[in-house]
Amino acid sequence: MKTIILTLIIAFVITIGGGTIYIYSGAYNVSQLSHHNALTKWIINTTKNRSRDRRMKDIPVPLLNDSTAIVTGFEYYNEMCVSCHGGPDVKPWEMTEGLYPKPPKFYKSGYMPDTVEAFWTIKYGIKMSLPEIA
Ligand code: HEC
Repeated sequence: MKTIILTLIIAFVITIGGGTIYIYSGAYNVSQLSHHNALTKWIINTTKNRSRDRRMKDIPVPLLNDSTAIVTGFEYYNEMCVSCHGGPDVKPWEMTEGLYPKPPKFYKSGYMPDTVEAFWTIKYGIKMSLPEIA
């Protein structure tokens, strides 16, 4: 039993120590020109999806066929989103071509996200990713 506990403590210290050395070494390339590897993508996406799934269960989604909400949503999109996500006959800003990840072109995609997921994402935003709408 003592040996197992000692082994776990040593493994813990090596993991924390190795991680700290890695962080301070500067070996990780933060440039967006160096894209995420598969493991990093998995960690980011799994964390994002699990976190959102856990929090979006009980939020009430407004009626999406309400004409006032549709017009207001269009105005908001035009003011705050079109510059990056574009729209039919509206090119996104040139600057957005260099973003990583690239903003999805919603109007080109046939993908219809789950309404609760989309509402939660747009209302609360995602750190280092989405602007929030209050
Ligand atoms: C400065 C550029 C920029 C602006 C402005 C912007 N976005 Fe985005 N958006 C992005 C980028 C980049 C991504 C891709 C992020 C990612 O994949 O992690 C994204 C992703 C998204 C997603 C998908 C998120 C997901 O992970 O499911 C939604 C939904 C979204 N944006 C909605 C909006 C809305 C609504 C607005 C306006 C209120 C907006 N965005 C304004 C850059 C922008």
